[in-house]
Parts: sequence; C-alpha cells; structure tokens
Amino acid sequence: MSIQTFKKLLVTGGAGFIGSNFIHFVLATRPVSVINLDCLSYSGNLENLSAIEADERYRFVHGDINDRQLLEDLLKECDAVVHFAAESHVDRSIIDARPFVKSNVMGTQTLLDALRSSGQDKRLVHVSTDEVYGSLPLDKPELKFHEESPIKPNSPYAASKAASDLLVQSYHETFGLDALITRCSNNFGAYQFPEKVIPLFVTNLLEGKKVPLYGDGKNVRDWLHVLDHCEAILTVLEKGQSGEVYNIGGNNERSNLELTQAILQIMGQGPEMIEYVADRLGHDRRYAIDAEKIKRELGWEPTRSSWPEALEETVQWYVDNQDWWRHVKSGAYRDYYQLQYGQRLTTH
Ligand code: NAD
Ligand code: DAU
Repeated sequence: MSIQTFKKLLVTGGAGFIGSNFIHFVLATRPVSVINLDCLSYSGNLENLSAIEADERYRFVHGDINDRQLLEDLLKECDAVVHFAAESHVDRSIIDARPFVKSNVMGTQTLLDALRSSGQDKRLVHVSTDEVYGSLPLDKPELKFHEESPIKPNSPYAASKAASDLLVQSYHETFGLDALITRCSNNFGAYQFPEKVIPLFVTNLLEGKKVPLYGDGKNVRDWLHVLDHCEAILTVLEKGQSGEVYNIGGNNERSNLELTQAILQIMGQGPEMIEYVADRLGHDRRYAIDAEKIKRELGWEPTRSSWPEALEETVQWYVDNQDWWRHVKSGAYRDYYQLQYGQRLTTH
C-alpha cells in the first residue's frame, strides 16, 4: 500500500462540527497547511477555530463552494481537497430541501468541475454519510450497511448526499478524477451544533429544560467519536484507492432511549426530563455500518469511541465550554467573524 503525502489541503466546510475537528487534528498530526473555505451558513462557527487562528499554516477564506472561480483560484495552491461543506441536518431538510440541493448537489458539482479544470493530479475525499443507504429493520440485527449496499436514501438530506456521491463517482469514471468517498455513521464530540441530538439534549438539561425524544425512542444510531472519523478520513486521503468507497463506523449501536438515559445518568437527572414528542417524518429506524473494508485494506479502526466513557467526556466538554454553546444558542457566535475579520456576515 503506497502512502501519499500532501503539502496544502483545501478543506471545505471547515468551520462546521467535523471540518473544524479535522483541521485541528490534521494541523496537530501532519506538517501540512490548510485553507478553510466556508460560507459560514448557520452551522459555520469560527469560534471552533479560535485556537489556531494565528497558526501560519492555517488560512480562512469566506466563500461558497458554488463559486467556481474562487475554487479554481484556491485549487492552484492546493494538492488535495477534503470536502465537508454541506447542509447536514435531516430535520431542516424536511422543512426546506432547497438549500440542500444548492450546497450538497450543486456545490459538489461545482467543486468537481473546478477540480477537472485544475488538472487531474489533485486528490478529492468526499465526506458522505451512511444515510445514503436508507434504513435497516430493528428485528434483523445481523444486517449492516456495506459498501455495495443499495443506495436508498429516505430524507431530502440523504437524497442530496446520495446525489453528490453519484456525481463524484461519475467524475471519477468519466474524467479520471482522483476521487474517494467516505460514508460515516453518527458522530459525537466537541463543537457539534446544538440542533443535533447529543449537544441539544446536554445543553437543554444544563438550561433546566426537558429533552424532546422523537416517537417511541427505539430508533438506533451507530455512534463514532468525531476524532475517530477525522483519523479515518485522513487514512483514506493518504492510503485510499482512487475511486473507492469506504464505510466508517463505531460498531456502537444505541437506541435513542438508551442514549438519552445514558445522558440523564451522566448528568444526574431523572426520566421525568424526557418529553416524548411527535416522530420525525420518514424517520429512519436503524443505521449500522460494516467498517471491515477500511480496517482490512487501510488498517483503520476506532480507538476513541468506547462507551460510555467517550460519551461522558463529550458531555463534560459541553459542561466545561458553556460560553461556546451559549454563544450559539443566543446567536452571538455570528458576531465573531466581524470582530476577527472586520466584515459583516451577509450569508444566512
Ligand atoms: P455542519 O453543519 O456542522 O458543518 C457544515 C459546514 O459546511 C458549515 O461550516 C457550513 O457553513 C459549511 N457550508 C455549508 N454549505 C456551504 C457552502 N455552500 N459553501 C461553503 N461552506 C458551506 O456539518 P457536520 O456535521 O460537520 O458535517 C460535515 C460533513 O460530514 C457533511 O458533508 C455531512 O454530510 C457529513 N457527515 C456528518 C456526520 C455527522 O454525524 N455529523 C456523519 C457522517 C457524515
Ligand atoms: O448517520 C450520519 C448522520 O448523522 C449524518 O449524515 C447527519 O449529518 C447527522 O445530522 C446525523 O443524522 P441523524 O438524523 O441521525 O442525527 P440527529 O442528531 O438529528 O438525530 C439522531 C437521532 O436522534 C435520530 O434518530 C433522531 C433523534 N432525535 C433527534 C433530535 C434532534 C430526537 O429524538 N430528538 C431530537 O430533538
């Protein structure tokens, strides 16, 4: 297996949850530079990166992945792209699918065209999701998603990610682009926007509010620590086979009720804090990833996802970093860009 090294990465969506964790991780572990291209949509938060702002290996560019000229200019400086930028929340895609098509489908297509006109030598890792495979039944625990499973997305979010995956594969087949796809399960860790279940529940409890559990609480997710995901993405970038898809997962299935009870226990609160609310429309019942391929071929497996210790650490991070999430919940995090870069945010 050959190992590639890179001098400068273009990271799209680096101000979000996984992208910012990835930038911290890659700067700490590799001698690379990073350009972070992010439009600072509602989930982009430069406070996630305040600790490395002065690092001369890091540069933030405020821009949209639908801006082809900007992408072409940035690609001249870079030898690889790690593509996180996307609308990422299922509930928002049920309310309005349009931003998902714009960023996830059209944005990815714009990036692919920019890569095409920049020559064939730049590697792309497209960060996708297990949700493209649809849903598994609860009564067949032996079933898992593997890389050859059919693409059967159910939510508008998952459909937009599936469309972007297919575009990436088509540019590899048609134009020979050096592109790889990762499909990961649910992530948890620091800097996750408090609309997603773990930070929403933890911060609600810290505010004395109840936690809204959808439906019967029996839906199952496969939880992976975000830094395990970042390490897997870096492994795929450096060692992956061009054109391949790699599943990434924690082998750590938990029902939402089990997760909620674990959070309540860690925080010393009782079941009266659970509020059962109407189910999510089209709510996928179970996700479970078979991550044998990346283990067998590239030697990656999770090392930080042991449960419940890793969950406890994450809960503690939100307890210790109340300024961070209170700025998000109050909207104050939107002022950070103006304070640091002297310009007002004009995007949504
Ligand atoms: P996030 O919502 O926290 O971050 C997304 C980032 O992308 C934000 O900083 C946002 O401003 C930026 N962005 C959105 N549209 C953009 C555009 N048009 N141009 C430039 N920047 C744009 O999301 P996340 O949870 O960090 O997810 C990152 C990626 O990982 C997504 O592609 C998502 O599908 C994928 N993924 C997430 C998970 C998970 O559990 N969170 C699991 C598997 C895969
Ligand atoms: O599987 C990977 C995916 O994981 C990523 O592709 C998505 O970007 C990411 O958002 C996540 O999707 P989910 O829909 O699984 O995550 P979310 O945190 O929104 O919900 C997790 C589970 O918790 C899901 O079964 C719905 C439930 N839930 C969620 C919220 C926000 C609740 O019961 N109550 C809630 O308030």
